[in-house]
Amino acid sequence: MITAVPLTQVSTEDATAWHAVVSASLAADLPEEPRPTFEQIHAQLSVTGRDNRRLLWLATDADGGVVGVAGLRLFTSPGQQHLAELELHVTPDRRRSGVGSHLLATVVRAARDEERRSLVAAAPGEGPTGAFCAARGFRRVLAFDHLLLDVADADVAVAEAGHPGYELVSWTGTVPDELAEAFASVKNAMNDMPTGDMDYGSQIWTVDRVRAMAEVLADRGDLLLTTAAVGKGEMAGYTEVVIRSGETLRALQYDTVVAPAHRGHGLGLWVKAEMVRRLRDEHPGIEEIETDNAQDNTHMIAVNRRLGFRFHRSTHEYQLDLLAE
Ligand SMILES: CC(C)(COP(=O)(O)OP(=O)(O)OC[C@H]1O[C@@H](n2cnc3c(N)ncnc32)[C@H](O)[C@@H]1OP(=O)(O)O)[C@@H](O)C(=O)NCCC(=O)NCCS
Repeated sequence: MITAVPLTQVSTEDATAWHAVVSASLAADLPEEPRPTFEQIHAQLSVTGRDNRRLLWLATDADGGVVGVAGLRLFTSPGQQHLAELELHVTPDRRRSGVGSHLLATVVRAARDEERRSLVAAAPGEGPTGAFCAARGFRRVLAFDHLLLDVADADVAVAEAGHPGYELVSWTGTVPDELAEAFASVKNAMNDMPTGDMDYGSQIWTVDRVRAMAEVLADRGDLLLTTAAVGKGEMAGYTEVVIRSGETLRALQYDTVVAPAHRGHGLGLWVKAEMVRRLRDEHPGIEEIETDNAQDNTHMIAVNRRLGFRFHRSTHEYQLDLLAE
């Protein structure tokens, strides 16, 4: 018999069980990928988001053993209050026995109680997820390519190129006060990102919100690096990279965006090349950067290829319509 136990307070024991399930699940499906550390999982479960709430469940069997985990992220900011995101893992030796379906039914009930319209989940392109999602009524709404850049081999010569009228500005953590308005304003251009058939909604960025997001990362012990191009009285574009707490090898690409009025002049490539140079100088241990691009985001993929990013693996975004019976 499987029971979905809600977690209200996350104890060390709960986080240990969660970490064990996720690690085993990733080892089965993505054996080449680095696994999250216990500290990263613990921080992810216990640090409160500023624009979302999370509900968590452990699936236990008759002996009380933890055989699966599920998380439901409920977005709370204007423009995304219809949306919820699923995280679901079943320990490999207990798959195909209904654990995933049991957890999913619990999550779907909670998401409907919260009056959500769409439930989305990211999953590897290979493995059992596609069949599971199809069996449980999800449809595939977006495909991503994950790319990796070898920091040592990246072609950063473009960072030397002149961009008259623009200058590069970099910071770590929260945006400096004098740039905060301009940064929040350009962040709204991320709404142009291709989202396929996903019911993603839109995000509205304010100074308070960009500061709050930086605080969440800092609370988790993650390091946020930003490099921006500033010129013609505004922030034209920026790129963000995160080094997760305790990470020694791989940095994660977050946003890269150029505001519409400044597109077509190589500024995206420029800020990204400068970021690589920063990583080499400031974090010489970091060997690679991982990014994920919607497969139809041709401009971003072209910029990344130009720097030397190479294809690593694909993932898919699945979506369940919660209003359908
Ligand atoms: C996807 C996952 C959660 C499924 O968990 P599970 O407990 O094995 O799923 P269930 O036993 O409830 O399977 C329900 C149905 O999904 C389908 N299914 C699940 N795994 C399948 C597989 N490997 N091959 C074919 N169909 C599969 C079947 O129709 C199955 O019903 P059946 O066993 O009666 O034929 C699990 O494989 C997992 O943890 N994967 C890695 C993490 C992940 O990708 N999470 C998904 C985010 S949506």
